[in-house]
Amino acid sequence: MNTTVNVTALLEAELDAVKAQGRYRDYLHLERRTDLAPRALVHRPDGDTEEITIWCSNDYLGISHHPRVAEAVAEAVRTVGLGTGGARSISGTSTYHQELETELAAWYRKEKALLFTTGFGANDAALGVLGRKIPGLVVFSDELNHASMIQGIRGGGAAKRIFRHNDTAHLRELIAEVGPDVPKLIVFESLYSMEGDFAPIEEIVEIAEEAGALTYLDEIHSVGIYGATGAGYAEEKGLLDRITLIQGGFGKGLGGAGGYLTGPRVIVDLVRSFAVPFVFSTSGPAPVIAGALAAVRQVREDSAERDLLAARSAEVKAGLRDRGIPALSYDSHIVPVLVGDPHKNKELSALLVREHGIYVQPVNAPTVPAGTERLRVTPTTRHTAEDVQTFIRALDKSWSALGLPRTV
Ligand SMILES: Cc1ncc(COP(=O)(O)O)c(C=O)c1O
Repeated sequence: MNTTVNVTALLEAELDAVKAQGRYRDYLHLERRTDLAPRALVHRPDGDTEEITIWCSNDYLGISHHPRVAEAVAEAVRTVGLGTGGARSISGTSTYHQELETELAAWYRKEKALLFTTGFGANDAALGVLGRKIPGLVVFSDELNHASMIQGIRGGGAAKRIFRHNDTAHLRELIAEVGPDVPKLIVFESLYSMEGDFAPIEEIVEIAEEAGALTYLDEIHSVGIYGATGAGYAEEKGLLDRITLIQGGFGKGLGGAGGYLTGPRVIVDLVRSFAVPFVFSTSGPAPVIAGALAAVRQVREDSAERDLLAARSAEVKAGLRDRGIPALSYDSHIVPVLVGDPHKNKELSALLVREHGIYVQPVNAPTVPAGTERLRVTPTTRHTAEDVQTFIRALDKSWSALGLPRTV
């Protein structure tokens, strides 16, 4: 770069600092293939290709490969092509968009639903608009809420109070400090994807009802996997009707991409009308929306995939317990294996790839607090019981090779 100040050197120093802290992110060039899943092809920089088993995908139900989904995508692309050619208000509202929003509103038993091209965008837009449009709002946010929620809350500019993760006593305390006439919004997730633990959502709903607060629940990692029709953890707990706004997405258990917000007509309409990135951005490609619709219908109609996922994840957790390999939580289908050191975490991941052809992405700070670095292990329906045993044996061997501590 030809500048008077040596900008290149300044920026290189930033990158070097990240590398020195073990926080530099490497991307594996992966070709996830329908015929191979959960295995995929890794393309090496030297041009070599090899097969690897993925143990960190959020395509929990393997539904991105489902024939019904693939057929819906193909049918849409043949019929209407790829892009919609405009934002929702221009030419970007297809029959697929309309149908999917109707389906989502019915699924969550809410008045309205609104689609976004990412789950991140849904949180950012919705929380931003609520903060800007509800005068005097105070937002109560779990300390481990996802970056998209933090960004949305910041962007909204409302006052905020952060409660300790899943600590309802702390939430009560913070709420008590705010007068009864102040509008309040409690923002939380049902399943924290880096922790693998569930929020005490029933208690949070009770607190909200006592305090007259609105509730905003991110269900993105529970969708498809919990509840009688796969709507998520709030459905499983019988709480759908007691939560004001439910956000979700298609990028995880539903195997696609995009996000959504469901809730009262007035709020969804407000977000639709005032969220700048929503208003001025091209809508999701119709085939992606058609695929999402097929995935939603599949999980609503058939629980076989979520039952299989529950069985696989139970096998993984039992294997870890047997070998004294510590997990941060055993609550959900997500199993975060605690390594506790950024360099060892990266080494463990590299060893699994190199020696065993197994890929689990290491999660380091700042995504998780320093000292709690982990491998976030995610079984899927495409793993067999034999895959689980192979994985556990490989992890066990690599754990010993790095001298990592075991639980008694
Ligand atoms: C809790 C949570 N909310 C929102 C998002 C963003 O969703 P998307 O990947 O669809 O942008 C993620 C993604 O990791 C997430 O974990």
